[in-house]
Amino acid sequence: MIDLILAVANNGVIGNEGKMPWNMKSDLKRFRDITMNKKIIMGRKTYESLPKKLPGREYIVVSSSKKIDDVTTGHNLFDILKLYASSREEVFVIGGANVARQSLPFCNHLYITRIKKDYDGDAVFDVDLGERFDLEYGYGELDEQSGLEYYFEIWRRKLRLVIFDMDGLMIDSEKKSRRAWLEAAREAGFDMSDEFFYGLVGANLSRAKQRMAEYYPDIDLEKFYAARQRISDAIYATEPLEAKPGLYELVDFLNDYGILKAVASSTRRERVVSNMKAIGMSGKLNYIVCGDEVKKSKPSGDIYRNVLSHFSCEPRNAIVLEDSKLGILSAQDAGARCLLIPDIVPADEQSKAIAYAVAPDLHGARDIIAREIGVELIG
Ligand SMILES: NC(=O)c1ccc[n+]([C@@H]2O[C@H](COP(=O)([O-])OP(=O)(O)OC[C@H]3O[C@@H](n4cnc5c(N)ncnc54)[C@H](OP(=O)(O)O)[C@@H]3O)[C@@H](O)[C@H]2O)c1
Repeated sequence: MIDLILAVANNGVIGNEGKMPWNMKSDLKRFRDITMNKKIIMGRKTYESLPKKLPGREYIVVSSSKKIDDVTTGHNLFDILKLYASSREEVFVIGGANVARQSLPFCNHLYITRIKKDYDGDAVFDVDLGERFDLEYGYGELDEQSGLEYYFEIWRRKLRLVIFDMDGLMIDSEKKSRRAWLEAAREAGFDMSDEFFYGLVGANLSRAKQRMAEYYPDIDLEKFYAARQRISDAIYATEPLEAKPGLYELVDFLNDYGILKAVASSTRRERVVSNMKAIGMSGKLNYIVCGDEVKKSKPSGDIYRNVLSHFSCEPRNAIVLEDSKLGILSAQDAGARCLLIPDIVPADEQSKAIAYAVAPDLHGARDIIAREIGVELIG
């Protein structure tokens, strides 16, 4: 996990001619307490500005070309940040302005000391933090020794969690599922319309069974389900499961920037786990919850509430990725924003109105999320 710690003057100045423009004992103590025994990442100029080696902290200094003796030097800031963004270890970026600005999309928390005075300076950090971070905590204090007033703030990133639906979103399974349902119906001697099948997309099996019993009261449904299972197993046994285009790139992107990833699928756990294994996703996700583990199926928001509560994450700090109308309604019921990526069922007007954005595929979803956290993707 990457966090940032910085002291910033009213007008955004953080340094002048290679020095801190102020001397605040209380803030230096807080800096020491927060960063003690941690790795600290800094720009080469900040390293050169420090009067002495800070004890108890492991330095990582970034410079595009210089090698600094006795400390770990990295030539690529982004590779270093990506290395720690998703790790459990808390690593601090400590400045200067240049490195802090570049690090923001990776940061979970910002520890900012806001000094209530303007200073002249050449290192400036005047970013509008409210765009991508929420102020979680703040209090005002006076540094007795210097007489400086300051406000100590803790900010937390707005986007913490991305929740994936599975069928038709991560994997190309809805077409397989449609074949199994329609073929089983034919075997059982009735026709199932696409329209009826589309209404089941996103539901768990018990909700689907309830809909079937209402719609086809005269059919031997036990026989039908046995046929559907047999056909489905045969399809999965012979046809490799494919990840939807852009899935790997999106998951890697979220990992690089330290954003949590969960799956909330209406499918039963056994199938979800085997599907994730089949497409190489095991171990890449922070949490999975399945249709057989929640009481109410989508469109109830139960499954998304389960994920949000697992991470103690407010709905506004998450994005749900969904392809189906039931899924979108479920995300809405849980209060989370939903990014719609239609699969075999075209998006209707209601779904488009509920979704905060619509993307053609997961590459498009990655672009939208990248813009949201302030990353410019090249290519
Ligand atoms: N108020 C505070 O909390 C605080 C905290 C820290 C520092 N400061 C002050 O801030 C000032 C220094 O800040 P600054 O913005 O001028 O410089 P800086 O961020 O400390 O360092 C910039 C240098 O870092 C290297 N660098 C930056 N981005 C890189 C990347 N993507 N890949 C590889 N290397 C990269 C480059 O080194 P090369 O040129 O060697 O390639 C670059 O010149 C000083 O006055 C210091 O006292 C204040």
